[in-house]
Amino acid sequence: MPVEGAIEWRKRAGKISNLEEEIAARPLPPTSVAIGHTRWATHGAPTDQNSHPHVAGRVAIVHNGIIENHDQLRAELGEVEFASETDSEVAAHLMLREVESGKGLVDAMRAVVAKLEGAFTLVAVDAQDPDRIVAARRNSPLVVGVGSNEYFLASDVAAFIAYTRDAIELGQDQIVELTRDGVNVTTFDGAPAETKSFHVDWDLEAAQKQGFDWYMRKEIFEQPKAVSDTLLGRLNDKGELQLDELRMSPELLRRVNKIVIVACGTAFYAGLVAKYAIEHWTRIPCEVELASEFRYRDPIIDPMTLVVTISQSGETADTLMAIRHAREQHAKVIAICNTNGATIPRESDAVIYTHAGPEIGVASTKGFTTQLVACYLLGLYLAQVRGMKYGDEIAALLAELERMPEAIQKMLDAKSTVYDLAEELVDATSVLFLGRHVGYPSALEGALKLKELAYIHAEGFAAGELKHGPIALISQDLPVFVVVPPKGRDQLRDKVISNIAEVRARGARTIVLAEADDEEARAVTDTLIELPKVSTLLQPMVAIIPLQLFACELATVKGHDVDQPRNLAKSVTVE
Ligand code: AGP
Repeated sequence: MPVEGAIEWRKRAGKISNLEEEIAARPLPPTSVAIGHTRWATHGAPTDQNSHPHVAGRVAIVHNGIIENHDQLRAELGEVEFASETDSEVAAHLMLREVESGKGLVDAMRAVVAKLEGAFTLVAVDAQDPDRIVAARRNSPLVVGVGSNEYFLASDVAAFIAYTRDAIELGQDQIVELTRDGVNVTTFDGAPAETKSFHVDWDLEAAQKQGFDWYMRKEIFEQPKAVSDTLLGRLNDKGELQLDELRMSPELLRRVNKIVIVACGTAFYAGLVAKYAIEHWTRIPCEVELASEFRYRDPIIDPMTLVVTISQSGETADTLMAIRHAREQHAKVIAICNTNGATIPRESDAVIYTHAGPEIGVASTKGFTTQLVACYLLGLYLAQVRGMKYGDEIAALLAELERMPEAIQKMLDAKSTVYDLAEELVDATSVLFLGRHVGYPSALEGALKLKELAYIHAEGFAAGELKHGPIALISQDLPVFVVVPPKGRDQLRDKVISNIAEVRARGARTIVLAEADDEEARAVTDTLIELPKVSTLLQPMVAIIPLQLFACELATVKGHDVDQPRNLAKSVTVE
């Protein structure tokens, strides 16, 4: 049991405000060393006892990840009395046993991590060594903040950005020791570790709400800038596309004979859109896989396969494990990521960074549209190096991409139609989303936004699939969003308009996203959301905006916490 007075701690389940109240009621003594943690429950319910830190005698730890052999380690600790149901507490008792055997905190950490299986970021302090913090990471994020005469450890730079924007990346299986004299990083084996310093290119102001009610709403409205920032600097002085940070030779890219995109959630839907563009522009077969399925299906990949991972946070465990599997099969891996210094880009062969700035809202918005931009840029770059498109064709598509911020802004300016709709549909218990071609992943992403935020049944379908079952779901006044392709793609568009007529004939309330002059679409529409004229492959960039706004507003009207939806975390660092 904790030795009273050795470690001072306060912990509470639920919102941070609960802990603030506890500390106000029972203030902590002044200190120069502290550790803290917010938990996404994996083992044990979200209760006070299961919250972190976990204290064992003179030692306290906080832990992100899953210790997969915690049962076996609990058994090894036999006589120890556990205060929680968590896997994490095992690490606290293991640390105590090591320091009580005479090891310093660093050596104790080294001994403990050698016993652990699974994913972990562990941070530990020892009351009898009060000027030191030691941490270790495997398959879970950890970054060092380097301030003036102060140091920070965090899962994400956002935690210390108010104090310093200078940081150090930590690699896999590394131990970091912080003292007032500085930072020392070693490998789990004790050898000095290579580290890389970087400067965070956004500040706390960017991470604040700037007058919006939700970070998510702010981030929806930041998309014109996020898209234009992601497009910046992509042309060389000859007007050719350049992807500087890609660090992958054109010769290698010319040998690629298959592309596999792996991602989760919203990033996966961005990958589905990318498939249509990449295959059309490069004629390279492109598969899109859920990262959590990828390595278990024994995928056929080899050195000629290019694996593209998409991740806003760069720390998604499923995606990270997929990368490792791909690299074991000698495939080359390109990461599309929004977080400088994150694990996924560090473990990939090359990276294309999006420049959306910090995305705080759990529901991804500008992450999605900037992922689309990065995917389009990759597709055009592949087409360029493989000679599949002429320079003028690529320039024309890039010029259209440059006009996307303005097109997105138009959708944002027309928000009132969407907000009125959210008010009307506040009691909806089920909403369907339909689309064809790239409209299909747009429908899937629109449905995910609504699930995440409004906690209601929402489902995206390929419109052509309706007659194969889902049309049985159509009931009177059921809201059905439909994304209609541009008038330039008439065959595709005609079929979608027929689908709208089919659901409307069965009583659905049709909310149609279509070009303003699309009279056929208008004729089968109860509520029209006008889309600007963009080419088919780029249409998700504008079609997704009203779907994001709708989900955000409906959740707001329902009184939900839009930034921190129930049961969800911003970065899912456990498998
Ligand atoms: C999106 O709104 C969700 N928060 C979730 O699906 C997310 O896209 C997914 O967990 C992947 O996250 P990543 O992009 O950080 O890897």
